[in-house]
Amino acid sequence: MRLETERLILRKFVRPDLDAFYAYCQHPEVGPNAGWKPHESIEESLKYLEMMMEGNEVLAIVDKISNKVIGSVGMHEDTMRNTKGVKMVGYVLAKEFWGKGLMTEAVKEVMRHAFEVEHLELISVQHFANNAKSKRVIEKLGFKSEGTIRYARKIFDDSIEDLVCYSLTRREWEQL
Ligand SMILES: CC(C)(COP(=O)(O)OP(=O)(O)OC[C@H]1O[C@@H](n2cnc3c(N)ncnc32)[C@H](O)[C@@H]1OP(=O)(O)O)[C@@H](O)C(=O)NCCC(=O)NCCS
Repeated sequence: MRLETERLILRKFVRPDLDAFYAYCQHPEVGPNAGWKPHESIEESLKYLEMMMEGNEVLAIVDKISNKVIGSVGMHEDTMRNTKGVKMVGYVLAKEFWGKGLMTEAVKEVMRHAFEVEHLELISVQHFANNAKSKRVIEKLGFKSEGTIRYARKIFDDSIEDLVCYSLTRREWEQL
């Protein structure tokens, strides 16, 4: 799958993306906000890159100007729901690209594809309670608040996070 926005190309990861992928995955502020430990070596990044290359869930976000990978957006199984036509979106962006509206642009296009082409019924998304940037992205995309699951997730550093949950139905998306 290949999607395109004004500033971005969304496509599958390929092996030559490894250096750019490692560059943002080892950053101390990127992974932890999404619940994962910063990568400690390029070999660790290669393991995750290969998993994403084999699967069909995650797309690389490529900056059109530099033609480099600057993040990822994934559509995953929503383990809170056992219904069909549902996916949960997740995303990370290299720190130097934060605050330019890029993730909102990327996720909007992934959602359009999911509703229009894959005919999903609902897309969900979650952020940790202290992740104000992700909360803002979610609000800008029009998601509806579902509430907070307290004491929900033990992450890599053994801290326990509350999860703030949102979703958007096909009908709500059509009305945006
Ligand atoms: C969350 C993340 C993807 C946001 O990407 P981004 O491209 O910077 O997002 P956007 O620029 O589209 O929007 C960010 C919004 O947050 C706002 N913002 C930034 N810092 C903020 C803060 N401390 N408090 C509140 N809002 C903040 C920005 O002003 C912007 O809103 P605006 O367009 O109304 O001004 C990026 O910060 C990231 O990768 N973080 C680490 C991983 C992560 O948190 N992933 C999500 C897990 S749920």
